Amino acid sequence: MKIYIDSANVKSIERLTEYFPVAGVTTNPTILVNEKKPYLPLLKEIRGVIGGDKALFVQAIGNKAEDIVKEAEFLAEQLPGKTIIKIPVTDEGVKAIKLLAQEQIETLATTIYTPFQAVLAALAGASYVAPYVNRIENLGGNGVGVTAEIAQLLQAHGLNCEIIAASFKNIHQVQSVFLSGAESATVSPDLIEKMIEFPSTATDVADFKKQWQGAYGENCETIID
Ligand code: E4P
Repeated sequence: MKIYIDSANVKSIERLTEYFPVAGVTTNPTILVNEKKPYLPLLKEIRGVIGGDKALFVQAIGNKAEDIVKEAEFLAEQLPGKTIIKIPVTDEGVKAIKLLAQEQIETLATTIYTPFQAVLAALAGASYVAPYVNRIENLGGNGVGVTAEIAQLLQAHGLNCEIIAASFKNIHQVQSVFLSGAESATVSPDLIEKMIEFPSTATDVADFKKQWQGAYGENCETIID
């Protein structure tokens, strides 16, 4: 089970990497553009923050398979470490996934709305598939259900491909995809922060502290004061 940060905001990535057990960072063109910085220095900065062992996912934007392959080779060379190329599941994208598998460049098939898109990408050699849970649900579909069916198909047919479920608007969706068989999810910084917050926890912590200070002194901040 892994949780990735779905963001290119360096401050958020620094904080979340320090505080939480995150496995890496996923980006897409929108996420990168939102930071209003040149994309390559930004990606290098993110690589510097997370280190070479954590995964960094970067999406190719070419339409033709050959262009996608060139972009993948460029990104893999520019961003040493565990860099994985995200490729949308078009026909050209699946062809690019096949070509890159021969070069041992790892890929994630993205913008997945149906189980068969995921199956074709896995058969082509993608290491990861990313069903778009909330975008499916915005269209009236069942994003968690699609993720569950992908998990069943990959497992039943022994396909060596990991689900990184993506596109969430709430924690319930994230929890549901994990329960339905996804190995991983990529989640925005604000939702990751919300995973730990609970008002009763804060109240309990404050009560414990008050009682402690009542017994051992108002200025007692830690157990060793
Ligand atoms: C992963 O990086 C996906 O592109 C991303 O989770 C999509 O999320 P959105 O539907 O909230 O834009």
